[in-house]
Amino acid sequence: MAYRYATEHVDHSDLASGCVLRSAPGRPGFPVRLASELFQRAAAHVGNGPVALWDPCCGSGHLATVVGLLHRDRLAYVLATDVDTDAVGIAERNLGLLTAHGLAERERELRWAAAEFGRPAFLERAEAARRLAADLARLGGDLSHTVRVGDAFRPAVPERPVDVVLTDVPYGGLTRWVGEPADEDPVVELLRALASALPDHAVLAVVARARKVAVSGVRVLERVRVGNRAAAVLRAADLRR
Ligand SMILES: C[S@@+](CC[C@H](N)C(=O)[O-])C[C@H]1O[C@@H](n2cnc3c(N)ncnc32)[C@H](O)[C@@H]1O
Repeated sequence: MAYRYATEHVDHSDLASGCVLRSAPGRPGFPVRLASELFQRAAAHVGNGPVALWDPCCGSGHLATVVGLLHRDRLAYVLATDVDTDAVGIAERNLGLLTAHGLAERERELRWAAAEFGRPAFLERAEAARRLAADLARLGGDLSHTVRVGDAFRPAVPERPVDVVLTDVPYGGLTRWVGEPADEDPVVELLRALASALPDHAVLAVVARARKVAVSGVRVLERVRVGNRAAAVLRAADLRR
């Protein structure tokens, strides 16, 4: 199978965290090429129709926003949730960039900053916002999305049925688990908890650092390893106890 963005040398610098998308100290973004590849791999397991995507540990929303912008033509809806209210505040602003209005506002803000501070770098970022808006329009226009606080270990049923979960779990250092079970592997618990809120056909692509994602006795549809990151793609129905 050909993965559009993994195999081609496309320049993704407009999507770097801190360019048009907002970054914040202690809120890591996610490698754009890997986000794109994982989404495409996971979506290939749910057929050819429009996909609803959920990132339940969304942090700043970089991963969810990047996938939304790159794959607007494959997506119908994006849900981004995180247990941390500060993270959700940034994610709201980033997922707001999945609309023409959000990108136009961001372009205006960056042009204003260029004039106010006399820094050409802001103008380059404003141009990047304009390019992202053109791409979004070409791929289908505004993408419906929801951003809210949510504990992934105790997930509420999503507002709209989700087909693909794609998430980058805490790995110590910058980001930490909240409310993880004391005596269980948090990644296994997370997968099982999320599966309980998903339709059977949904697939979950989970990325962890410096560890293999494994759930005893559960079939893994695919594994991907890039640098110190390891991802596994699993089917919701296979995760039910
Ligand atoms: C590695 S970061 C995700 C970064 C994100 N991929 C991005 O692009 O910005 C992991 C996130 O998991 C969140 N988290 C930790 N425990 C959680 C829980 N119980 N439910 C939901 N999110 C949780 C943290 O607040 C953190 O934002």
